[in-house]
Amino acid sequence: MGEDLWAPHALGDPELSPPPASAPGGVTLVIPTFNEAGNVGELLKRLGAALPAHLPCEVLFVDDSTDDTPAVIEQAAPQCAFPVSVLHRERADGGLGGAVVEGVKRAGTEWIVVMDADLQHPPHLVPELVGEGERTGAELVVASRYIAGGSRAGLAGSYRIAVSRAATWLTKGLFPRALRGISDPMSGFFAMRRSAVTAPSLKPLGYKILLELTVRCRPAKVAEVPFVFQDRYSGESKSTAREGLRFLAHLAALRTASTPARMIGFGLIGLSGFVPNLLALWLLTGTGMNYLAAEIVANQAGVLWNFLLIETLLFRDRRHRHRADRAGRFALLANADLLLRIPLIAVFVARLGMAVLPATALALVTTFFLRFAATETLVYLPRRAGRTTRS
Ligand code: GDD
Ligand code: MN
Repeated sequence: MGEDLWAPHALGDPELSPPPASAPGGVTLVIPTFNEAGNVGELLKRLGAALPAHLPCEVLFVDDSTDDTPAVIEQAAPQCAFPVSVLHRERADGGLGGAVVEGVKRAGTEWIVVMDADLQHPPHLVPELVGEGERTGAELVVASRYIAGGSRAGLAGSYRIAVSRAATWLTKGLFPRALRGISDPMSGFFAMRRSAVTAPSLKPLGYKILLELTVRCRPAKVAEVPFVFQDRYSGESKSTAREGLRFLAHLAALRTASTPARMIGFGLIGLSGFVPNLLALWLLTGTGMNYLAAEIVANQAGVLWNFLLIETLLFRDRRHRHRADRAGRFALLANADLLLRIPLIAVFVARLGMAVLPATALALVTTFFLRFAATETLVYLPRRAGRTTRS
């Protein structure tokens, strides 16, 4: 497909040519909406002006609104030269990310473009994103605020700019290979070939759907187009501080998707558990408690700390057992680990003739692996494919 086909066409008579049903290179615009009644009309108008009339484009809103956004869309749809549909979800499973995944699943066209409904993403760039993909053969084209010609003008306030920048660095640092060539992994505006969406299940936590797609699907070739992040046309951002926490949990889930990575996370969390453990020990012995009793109680503080972190960071999508059940199993394993270590050391020293220090180290490593394996199989159940978590 040549680039001239994708050149944005001039304003005017888009209603002349309804898109041929089966032409190649079709585009589905997936637009998540949550109470955007004040934006969707203007958005459709500007899309009408931006989309080349001779190429098959369709718009799919995935809506979780509690206002009359779907009604406003249905009213505006007949005036559009391209098909417009609304998928209204009764349950907002997965929030923004879940909505996009729903839309991506339904799209049957060669290209999918994801964009926000609040006009922070300039509609005139839609043909440019797809055109860049066609020209370069890229599977993913990201609209970036961080390359020459782009900017984040519409990001409200220096605080949000700083947070966004820090989040970008952290993300790029954690996924240097998957995000090579992507300067703006936080962007919510991108075009992706349908054929490149290969992950068996996508479970974005919250806003960062592009991150989920790149890390889980690893598109072979990526390209970027600069864009200026605009001010919101109407209404307010739906992003909250909670979204920030969800983002960190999402990063952890993506980073620890493989067993070896999860094992490293498990070990690091285990090490961090010494802090609450020693702190509790210090507090308890300070109250005059017998030091052995204090050891046992303080150990539970470390266990609780580890449990909470492991739950939220490593096994978030595998928490199918009842919470009390998981906590009980986890605590049992953690304390069994402690009890098992002494006889193990005795075996290593007495039977294998090892010195005490290497025997202790080997016992620590052995119980670590045992505990990890037991946590994987006895505390948490395998991830269920093809389902999105409730936000
Ligand atoms: N269906 C659905 N469900 N849509 C939602 C939901 C939800 O729970 N929450 C938000 N949306 C829609 C909004 O209606 C809007 O169209 C789009 O998702 C983006 O939401 P905003 O609330 O406007 O997000 P933002 O402007 O703070 O963040 C945008 O820019 C970030 C870059 O700084 C998003 O594009 C982010 O993905 C992006 O990282
Ligand atoms: Mn926005």
